[in-house]
Amino acid sequence: MTVVDDEDEPELVDADGRRVDTWREGYPYDTRMPREEYAVEKRRLQIELLKLQRWVKSTGERLVVLCEGRDAAGKGGTLKRFTEHLNPRGARVVALEKPTDRESTQWYFQRYVAHLPAAGEMVFFDRSWYTRAGVERVMGFATPSEYDRFMAQVPLFEQMLVEDGVHLVKFWFSVTRAEQRTRFLIRQIDPVRQWKLSPMDLESLDRWDDYTEAKEAMFARTDRPYARWVVVSTNDKKRARLEAMRVVLSRFDYDDKDTSVVGEPDPRLVVRARSILE
Ligand code: ADP
Ligand code: AMP
Ligand code: MLT
Repeated sequence: MTVVDDEDEPELVDADGRRVDTWREGYPYDTRMPREEYAVEKRRLQIELLKLQRWVKSTGERLVVLCEGRDAAGKGGTLKRFTEHLNPRGARVVALEKPTDRESTQWYFQRYVAHLPAAGEMVFFDRSWYTRAGVERVMGFATPSEYDRFMAQVPLFEQMLVEDGVHLVKFWFSVTRAEQRTRFLIRQIDPVRQWKLSPMDLESLDRWDDYTEAKEAMFARTDRPYARWVVVSTNDKKRARLEAMRVVLSRFDYDDKDTSVVGEPDPRLVVRARSILE
């Protein structure tokens, strides 16, 4: 096995020189997006994100984008492209470590609250308070009663944020099972990606169904009209990143918006959580 390096989407090549194409699993397109097309479209959308940021700053709005999904779903890579050209004064990614001993004695939401935006700020959470509904539940880091309390509180917590005027976008990045495996293999082989491979990742291979169950419970209980989950297929990472940008941009009526660039999220790649549960 070798990795053909492409900064945007590395590919795995097997011993016979064939490209591993697990991304095709259940995917609605026959080809992945060509690099050139991606580069052009990404730039256009990043320009729109800059206009959004200008508007957020000038109006004093507050924006939270949170990203959840299985390991290797592409959360970090997507947020990197979101923030690539944004002014770091007013846009930041928050990716918290596991709670310290001190933090684990605090109110569960406390360490996340500390990172919420002030006026004019956009905060992108690479994993969020929903860790309790996913990893912590599946791996047993939270007790059943902590989990139950969390599930009951999270809609209230989010309602408080939204009622206070915070704009909240919740993404679930969706990767299929075989493609997740491929991405883990790439992480094992590629020196620039090894840091992303955690013991938790390898554990998750055997816990696919537990994670599915946890995700469905999370959608059922935390998808609310004021805090909808948006599910993005990420087997083609390039399309997923662009679609995620479109989702955020299409929520706001910022100055000088170019609707021909923003368009509408692709319904084959972006769906509501409710459609998953049906
Ligand atoms: P990544 O976010 O890079 O995928 P991991 O897969 O290693 O990171 O871990 C997933 C999540 O589980 C992280 O948010 C991490 O903080 C959390 N986590 C890991 N160990 C613990 C633990 N002992 N208690 C609570 N949360 C944990
Ligand atoms: P996730 O959203 O990350 O839980 O990813 C799971 C998704 O992978 C499911 O929603 C399915 O649509 C998809 N999936 C899993 N297994 C298969 C499969 N064998 N064929 C097609 N799609 C699959
Ligand atoms: C993830 O595990 O989903 C990511 O944060 C890593 C990536 O960039 O693909």
